[in-house]
Amino acid sequence: MSTAVDARTWAEDWQRSWDRQQEGYMPDREHRLAALVDIVEAVGGRAPRVLDLACGTGSISRRLLGRLPRATAVAVDVDPALLAIAAATLGDDERVRIVRADLGDPAWTAAVGDTPFDAVVTATALHWLPEATLRRLYGDLRALVRPGGVVANADEMVPARLPRLTAELSRLARERRAALWADGRPDWDAWWDIVARDPRLAEAVAERRRFFGGDHAPEFVPPAEWHVVALADAGFAEAGIAWRSGTGAIAAAVR
Ligand SMILES: C[S@@+](CC[C@H](N)C(=O)[O-])C[C@H]1O[C@@H](n2cnc3c(N)ncnc32)[C@H](O)[C@@H]1O
Repeated sequence: MSTAVDARTWAEDWQRSWDRQQEGYMPDREHRLAALVDIVEAVGGRAPRVLDLACGTGSISRRLLGRLPRATAVAVDVDPALLAIAAATLGDDERVRIVRADLGDPAWTAAVGDTPFDAVVTATALHWLPEATLRRLYGDLRALVRPGGVVANADEMVPARLPRLTAELSRLARERRAALWADGRPDWDAWWDIVARDPRLAEAVAERRRFFGGDHAPEFVPPAEWHVVALADAGFAEAGIAWRSGTGAIAAAVR
């Protein structure tokens, strides 16, 4: 077996492992990611230019290209370990450019290259940013999409005006997660410990732990309404909730 095929198999194994771990937190994750691709296709057609923000292993880009083979993507993240998996999966694909940048740095947009994009999509990521950074980021994103282009953020974001229903939905979500974890899949911390034991990723894991100061804790998880207001404040023509499943939602804005 060639080294290239070896690397590809190694990366696909990590992709499956990442997906399984993430699905443990979001049993509906495939629906969320499919809903993001729906939004891209609706706005950008069959050959959209897409920014996959905080891409991790490239989960959205992979699904985007699976559905829309004429799409192109710039995939941005700061984590060297997840980017190594993304690069081993997608790095040879001329439709994808992988970029390392810290969204906390206001100069991050310089790294993405040609703009504008038809769509910026992101999943399960922006809750890592503090409130002021997320506000600034939404403004950055407005400048990166074309008029009529879309920004879509899939994340945990409860509906502020349904506290009792949200409590029940959260309970249901906990039950579903527990059912998945019963198969022995690793949680977030255990997954990173497993990754750290892979010699090809050990140094990158050490680097990410230095960068994040550990494995990671959520910074700011506001209700959906906060995102809608912040996107409108950032100057988008339309902002609202484009999709919801339980306590997760996609906040979207059209320039
Ligand atoms: C749970 S992962 C989600 C990855 C991918 N979107 C997915 O759904 O599989 C969150 C991602 O946000 C990225 N992230 C967090 N803070 C970041 C920052 N300041 N700059 C760039 N990426 C960041 C992390 O490195 C991680 O890849």
